Amino acid sequence: MTFLKTSVAKKVAMALSGLFLVLFILVHLAINLTLIYPGKEAFDAAVEFMGTNPLIQIMQPVLALGFIFHISMGIYLEWNNRSKRSVKYVNNNPKVASSWASRNMIWTGLFVLLFLIIHLLNYFVPFKTQEVSDHYVLVTGLFKSPVYTLIYVLAFISLGIHLSHGFQSAFQSLGTPRQKCHKFIVYSGNLFAFLVALGFSAIAIYFYFN
Ligand code: HEM
Repeated sequence: MTFLKTSVAKKVAMALSGLFLVLFILVHLAINLTLIYPGKEAFDAAVEFMGTNPLIQIMQPVLALGFIFHISMGIYLEWNNRSKRSVKYVNNNPKVASSWASRNMIWTGLFVLLFLIIHLLNYFVPFKTQEVSDHYVLVTGLFKSPVYTLIYVLAFISLGIHLSHGFQSAFQSLGTPRQKCHKFIVYSGNLFAFLVALGFSAIAIYFYFN
């Protein structure tokens, strides 16, 4: 328990929760892409599988806990860093040492959180209250709203920026051999972040116009 209180343990826990969410977002993107290709039948089958597979049922509360942990720890680490940074150095130029994405993890994260709340209200609530029983109709119907589609695209651009730093930062926190793998991890992270932002946005824009 004392180990968990150390800053190294917190960084490792943050990295593991972040990478767990990375896996979730990858599965989510793969499922959502079936909306466009092959189409409704494949998407319905994927939703049916997610709704009935016992392993997925066990993973759902784990995922919720992963999100709660990542968000609370992110806010805590940010608050902690800010209180320690209260003494400012005269020559402290943050642009030299760090990227915009790394300095704004809390803001890109909070924007994603705002979207998550909107997404849960628009998606889970109508489905759980049986207002809509067809997932495909519900999901694609939401993209007919320009406001929803705009918030959706902005949220995934925000997640892309979050991941462009988060991906490499997670591996760094886990202690990957810096010299050997650093460039590869940075490139893979940027590519992954770009594909997540592009993939989700493209689906939303496609259904807005079709
Ligand atoms: C699907 C959504 C999300 C994914 C995939 C994700 C992924 C990640 C990853 C991989 C990291 C790097 C961990 C590390 O530095 O070791 C990270 C860091 C961070 N995340 Fe997220 N995140 C998500 C949502 C959020 C949300 C909603 C918040 C809300 C506050 C948030 C706040 C943060 C913060 C503040 C950090 C930086 C922590 C630090 O290094 O001090 N994230 N995220």
